[in-house]
Amino acid sequence: MKIYTSRAVLSKFLLTQQSSKKSVGLVPTMGALHKGHLSLIKAAKLKNELVVCSIFVNPTQFSDPVDLAKYPRQVESDIEKLKVAGCDILFLPEVSEMYSKDEKWHIDLNGLDQILEGLVRPGHYQGVTQIVKKLFDTVKPDTAFFGQKDYQQYMVISEMVRQYSLPLQLIMCPIIREEDGLAMSSRNIYLSEDQHREALALNKGLQLAASLFSSSSILEIKKKVLQFLKNEPGITLEYFEICDSKTLKTVEEKKPGNLVALIAARIGSIRLIDNILLG
Ligand code: PAF
Repeated sequence: MKIYTSRAVLSKFLLTQQSSKKSVGLVPTMGALHKGHLSLIKAAKLKNELVVCSIFVNPTQFSDPVDLAKYPRQVESDIEKLKVAGCDILFLPEVSEMYSKDEKWHIDLNGLDQILEGLVRPGHYQGVTQIVKKLFDTVKPDTAFFGQKDYQQYMVISEMVRQYSLPLQLIMCPIIREEDGLAMSSRNIYLSEDQHREALALNKGLQLAASLFSSSSILEIKKKVLQFLKNEPGITLEYFEICDSKTLKTVEEKKPGNLVALIAARIGSIRLIDNILLG
Protein backbone atom coordinates (compact mmCIF):
# COMPACT_ATOMS: atom_id res chain seq x y z
CA MET A 1 0.00 0.00 0.00
CA LYS A 2 1.33 3.41 -0.98
CA ILE A 3 0.96 6.24 1.54
CA TYR A 4 0.67 9.85 0.39
CA THR A 5 0.58 12.93 2.57
CA SER A 6 0.62 15.55 -0.21
CA ARG A 7 -2.45 16.41 -2.28
CA ALA A 8 -0.35 17.43 -5.28
CA VAL A 9 1.73 14.24 -5.29
CA LEU A 10 -1.32 12.01 -4.87
CA SER A 11 -3.22 13.86 -7.63
CA LYS A 12 -0.27 13.51 -10.00
CA PHE A 13 0.05 9.78 -9.33
CA LEU A 14 -3.70 9.21 -9.75
CA LEU A 15 -3.74 11.13 -13.04
CA THR A 16 -1.24 8.66 -14.51
CA GLN A 17 -3.45 5.79 -13.35
CA GLN A 18 -6.66 7.38 -14.58
CA SER A 19 -5.12 8.08 -17.99
CA SER A 20 -4.55 4.33 -18.29
CA LYS A 21 -8.31 3.98 -17.59
CA LYS A 22 -8.07 2.56 -14.08
CA SER A 23 -11.22 3.22 -12.09
CA VAL A 24 -10.70 4.75 -8.68
CA GLY A 25 -12.85 4.20 -5.57
CA LEU A 26 -12.52 6.54 -2.58
CA VAL A 27 -13.32 5.69 1.04
CA PRO A 28 -13.07 8.86 3.15
CA THR A 29 -12.58 8.20 6.87
CA MET A 30 -11.37 9.84 10.06
CA GLY A 31 -9.45 6.70 11.06
CA ALA A 32 -9.88 4.47 14.13
CA LEU A 33 -10.99 1.95 11.56
CA HIS A 34 -13.47 -0.81 12.41
CA LYS A 35 -15.32 -3.48 10.45
CA GLY A 36 -17.75 -0.86 9.13
CA HIS A 37 -14.91 1.02 7.41
CA LEU A 38 -13.39 -2.24 6.18
CA SER A 39 -16.71 -3.18 4.56
CA LEU A 40 -16.48 0.09 2.59
CA ILE A 41 -12.97 -0.84 1.42
CA LYS A 42 -14.31 -4.25 0.35
CA ALA A 43 -17.18 -2.66 -1.59
CA ALA A 44 -14.76 -0.19 -3.20
CA LYS A 45 -12.45 -3.04 -4.27
CA LEU A 46 -15.31 -4.94 -5.88
CA LYS A 47 -16.15 -1.96 -8.06
CA ASN A 48 -12.75 -0.41 -8.79
CA GLU A 49 -9.23 -1.23 -9.88
CA LEU A 50 -7.67 1.20 -7.41
CA VAL A 51 -8.91 1.92 -3.91
CA VAL A 52 -7.92 5.08 -2.04
CA CYS A 53 -8.73 5.43 1.66
CA SER A 54 -8.25 8.79 3.33
CA ILE A 55 -7.65 9.20 7.04
CA PHE A 56 -8.07 12.77 8.20
CA VAL A 57 -9.60 13.96 11.47
CA ASN A 58 -11.27 17.00 9.99
CA PRO A 59 -11.25 19.96 12.43
CA THR A 60 -13.93 21.97 10.62
CA GLN A 61 -16.64 19.41 11.34
CA PHE A 62 -16.13 19.53 15.11
CA SER A 63 -17.81 22.35 16.98
CA ASP A 64 -16.37 21.18 20.30
CA PRO A 65 -12.54 21.41 20.55
CA VAL A 66 -12.56 18.83 23.36
CA ASP A 67 -14.39 16.35 21.13
CA LEU A 68 -11.81 17.00 18.38
CA ALA A 69 -8.86 16.58 20.74
CA LYS A 70 -10.12 13.29 22.14
CA TYR A 71 -11.26 11.77 18.82
CA PRO A 72 -9.46 8.39 18.63
CA ARG A 73 -6.27 8.39 16.56
CA GLN A 74 -4.66 5.01 15.86
CA VAL A 75 -2.81 5.43 12.58
CA GLU A 76 -0.38 2.53 13.00
CA SER A 77 -3.09 -0.09 13.55
CA ASP A 78 -5.23 1.56 10.83
CA ILE A 79 -2.37 1.10 8.35
CA GLU A 80 -2.13 -2.60 9.22
CA LYS A 81 -5.90 -3.06 8.81
CA LEU A 82 -5.88 -1.31 5.44
CA LYS A 83 -3.00 -3.48 4.20
CA VAL A 84 -4.86 -6.64 5.20
CA ALA A 85 -8.03 -5.33 3.52
CA GLY A 86 -6.09 -4.83 0.27
CA CYS A 87 -6.36 -1.04 0.09
CA ASP A 88 -4.02 0.33 -2.60
CA ILE A 89 -3.44 3.89 -1.42
CA LEU A 90 -3.74 5.66 1.91
CA PHE A 91 -4.04 9.44 1.85
CA LEU A 92 -2.88 10.72 5.24
CA PRO A 93 -2.56 14.50 5.13
CA GLU A 94 -1.78 16.95 7.93
CA VAL A 95 -4.27 19.73 8.70
CA SER A 96 -1.95 22.30 7.02
CA GLU A 97 -2.08 20.24 3.81
CA MET A 98 -5.88 20.45 3.63
CA TYR A 99 -6.56 23.96 4.93
CA SER A 100 -5.07 27.38 4.48
CA LYS A 101 -5.50 29.96 7.24
CA ASP A 102 -8.82 31.85 7.43
CA GLU A 103 -10.42 29.69 4.78
CA LYS A 104 -14.16 30.27 4.27
CA TRP A 105 -16.72 27.75 3.04
CA HIS A 106 -20.46 27.79 2.82
CA ILE A 107 -22.80 25.72 0.70
CA ASP A 108 -26.57 25.98 0.69
CA LEU A 109 -27.61 22.43 1.54
CA ASN A 110 -31.30 22.99 1.03
CA GLY A 111 -31.94 22.90 4.78
CA LEU A 112 -30.49 19.39 5.13
CA ASP A 113 -27.81 20.73 7.46
CA GLN A 114 -30.34 22.50 9.70
CA ILE A 115 -32.22 19.45 10.96
CA LEU A 116 -31.50 16.38 13.14
CA GLU A 117 -27.70 16.22 13.57
CA GLY A 118 -27.45 19.76 12.21
CA LEU A 119 -29.51 21.10 15.10
CA VAL A 120 -27.33 19.43 17.71
CA ARG A 121 -24.06 20.02 15.85
CA PRO A 122 -24.33 23.42 14.15
CA GLY A 123 -21.82 23.82 11.29
CA HIS A 124 -21.02 20.10 11.26
CA TYR A 125 -22.19 19.44 7.70
CA GLN A 126 -20.56 22.59 6.36
CA GLY A 127 -17.29 21.14 7.69
CA VAL A 128 -18.06 17.71 6.25
CA THR A 129 -18.84 19.07 2.79
CA GLN A 130 -15.81 21.37 2.89
CA ILE A 131 -13.41 18.45 3.41
CA VAL A 132 -15.23 15.92 1.23
CA LYS A 133 -15.20 18.40 -1.70
CA LYS A 134 -11.42 18.77 -1.26
CA LEU A 135 -11.00 14.99 -1.16
CA PHE A 136 -13.12 14.58 -4.29
CA ASP A 137 -11.11 17.31 -6.07
CA THR A 138 -7.81 15.65 -5.09
CA VAL A 139 -8.70 12.03 -5.86
CA LYS A 140 -11.29 12.53 -8.63
CA PRO A 141 -12.84 9.14 -7.82
CA ASP A 142 -15.27 7.30 -10.07
CA THR A 143 -17.11 6.10 -6.98
CA ALA A 144 -17.06 7.18 -3.35
CA PHE A 145 -18.28 4.98 -0.50
CA PHE A 146 -20.03 6.06 2.70
CA GLY A 147 -21.76 4.10 5.46
CA GLN A 148 -25.51 4.17 6.06
CA LYS A 149 -24.84 4.75 9.76
CA ASP A 150 -24.28 8.45 8.96
CA TYR A 151 -27.45 8.53 6.89
CA GLN A 152 -27.87 12.31 7.00
CA GLN A 153 -24.21 12.76 6.00
CA TYR A 154 -24.84 10.64 2.91
CA MET A 155 -27.86 12.79 1.97
CA VAL A 156 -25.87 15.99 2.54
CA ILE A 157 -22.99 14.77 0.36
CA SER A 158 -25.47 13.64 -2.34
CA GLU A 159 -26.90 17.17 -2.33
CA MET A 160 -23.40 18.64 -2.76
CA VAL A 161 -22.63 16.23 -5.62
CA ARG A 162 -25.91 17.23 -7.27
CA GLN A 163 -25.31 20.97 -6.88
CA TYR A 164 -21.75 20.88 -8.26
CA SER A 165 -22.63 18.20 -10.85
CA LEU A 166 -19.60 16.24 -9.68
CA PRO A 167 -18.75 13.41 -12.08
CA LEU A 168 -18.80 10.56 -9.59
CA GLN A 169 -21.16 7.98 -8.16
CA LEU A 170 -21.91 7.79 -4.45
CA ILE A 171 -22.52 4.42 -2.87
CA MET A 172 -24.13 3.90 0.52
CA CYS A 173 -23.07 0.66 2.25
CA PRO A 174 -25.15 -1.08 4.95
CA ILE A 175 -24.57 -0.52 8.65
CA ILE A 176 -22.22 -3.09 10.16
CA ARG A 177 -23.19 -4.12 13.68
CA GLU A 178 -21.56 -5.89 16.59
CA GLU A 179 -23.04 -9.35 17.26
CA ASP A 180 -25.27 -7.80 19.92
CA GLY A 181 -26.68 -5.26 17.44
CA LEU A 182 -24.72 -2.12 18.38
CA ALA A 183 -23.84 -0.17 15.22
CA MET A 184 -20.06 -0.06 14.76
CA SER A 185 -18.60 3.35 15.49
CA SER A 186 -15.12 4.67 16.21
CA ARG A 187 -16.59 6.09 19.41
CA ASN A 188 -17.66 2.65 20.74
CA ILE A 189 -14.17 2.08 22.18
CA TYR A 190 -15.00 4.67 24.85
CA LEU A 191 -18.01 2.70 26.15
CA SER A 192 -17.53 0.77 29.38
CA GLU A 193 -19.11 -2.70 29.51
CA ASP A 194 -22.18 -1.29 31.25
CA GLN A 195 -22.46 1.61 28.80
CA HIS A 196 -22.13 -0.80 25.87
CA ARG A 197 -25.09 -2.75 27.24
CA GLU A 198 -27.07 0.47 27.74
CA ALA A 199 -26.22 1.62 24.20
CA LEU A 200 -28.04 -1.42 22.78
CA ALA A 201 -31.26 0.53 23.47
CA LEU A 202 -30.63 2.57 20.28
CA ASN A 203 -30.83 -0.46 18.00
CA LYS A 204 -33.61 -1.99 20.10
CA GLY A 205 -35.67 1.19 19.70
CA LEU A 206 -35.14 1.09 15.94
CA GLN A 207 -36.03 -2.62 15.79
CA LEU A 208 -39.20 -1.87 17.73
CA ALA A 209 -40.10 0.84 15.19
CA ALA A 210 -39.52 -1.64 12.34
CA SER A 211 -41.60 -4.35 14.00
CA LEU A 212 -44.52 -1.94 14.56
CA PHE A 213 -44.30 -0.43 11.09
CA SER A 214 -46.89 -2.57 9.27
CA SER A 215 -49.47 -2.52 12.08
CA SER A 216 -49.21 0.97 13.59
CA SER A 217 -49.46 4.60 12.58
CA ILE A 218 -46.36 6.82 12.62
CA LEU A 219 -47.63 8.59 15.73
CA GLU A 220 -48.23 5.28 17.53
CA ILE A 221 -44.76 4.02 16.58
CA LYS A 222 -43.14 7.20 17.83
CA LYS A 223 -45.10 7.08 21.08
CA LYS A 224 -44.19 3.45 21.77
CA VAL A 225 -40.51 3.84 20.89
CA LEU A 226 -40.20 7.00 23.01
CA GLN A 227 -41.88 5.19 25.89
CA PHE A 228 -39.46 2.26 25.49
CA LEU A 229 -36.43 4.57 25.40
CA LYS A 230 -37.63 6.49 28.44
CA ASN A 231 -37.51 3.30 30.49
CA GLU A 232 -34.03 2.30 29.33
CA PRO A 233 -31.32 3.12 31.88
CA GLY A 234 -28.20 5.13 31.10
CA ILE A 235 -29.22 6.76 27.85
CA THR A 236 -30.11 10.41 27.27
CA LEU A 237 -32.13 10.64 24.09
CA GLU A 238 -31.40 13.57 21.75
CA TYR A 239 -33.86 12.67 19.03
CA PHE A 240 -35.87 9.84 17.59
CA GLU A 241 -37.54 10.81 14.32
CA ILE A 242 -39.24 9.10 11.43
CA CYS A 243 -38.43 10.93 8.21
CA ASP A 244 -38.80 10.77 4.46
CA SER A 245 -35.67 8.89 3.37
CA LYS A 246 -34.92 11.40 0.57
CA THR A 247 -35.74 14.81 2.08
CA LEU A 248 -35.25 13.87 5.75
CA LYS A 249 -38.39 15.86 6.57
CA THR A 250 -40.24 14.33 9.52
CA VAL A 251 -43.46 12.59 8.56
CA GLU A 252 -46.66 12.37 10.57
CA GLU A 253 -48.31 9.79 8.35
CA LYS A 254 -47.21 6.85 6.24
CA LYS A 255 -46.77 7.64 2.57
CA PRO A 256 -45.47 5.89 -0.52
CA GLY A 257 -41.70 5.55 -0.76
CA ASN A 258 -39.19 4.77 1.92
CA LEU A 259 -39.01 6.22 5.38
CA VAL A 260 -36.06 6.20 7.73
CA ALA A 261 -36.08 6.17 11.52
CA LEU A 262 -33.12 8.04 12.99
CA ILE A 263 -31.91 8.13 16.57
CA ALA A 264 -29.21 9.98 18.50
CA ALA A 265 -28.47 9.56 22.20
CA ARG A 266 -25.78 10.09 24.77
CA ILE A 267 -24.48 7.31 26.97
CA GLY A 268 -22.60 9.28 29.61
CA SER A 269 -20.56 11.70 27.52
CA ILE A 270 -20.47 9.45 24.44
CA ARG A 271 -22.78 10.45 21.64
CA LEU A 272 -24.06 7.69 19.34
CA ILE A 273 -26.32 7.67 16.28
CA ASP A 274 -28.11 4.90 14.43
CA ASN A 275 -30.91 4.47 11.89
CA ILE A 276 -33.08 1.96 10.05
CA LEU A 277 -34.93 2.11 6.75
CA LEU A 278 -38.67 1.44 7.07
CA GLY A 279 -41.16 0.33 4.47
O1 PAF B 1 -17.83 9.97 8.16
C1 PAF B 1 -16.70 10.42 8.42
O2 PAF B 1 -15.83 9.73 8.94
C2 PAF B 1 -16.39 11.86 8.10
O3 PAF B 1 -17.47 12.69 8.35
C3 PAF B 1 -15.84 12.07 6.66
C4 PAF B 1 -16.88 11.70 5.62
C5 PAF B 1 -14.60 11.23 6.47
C6 PAF B 1 -15.48 13.54 6.45
O4 PAF B 1 -14.52 13.97 7.35
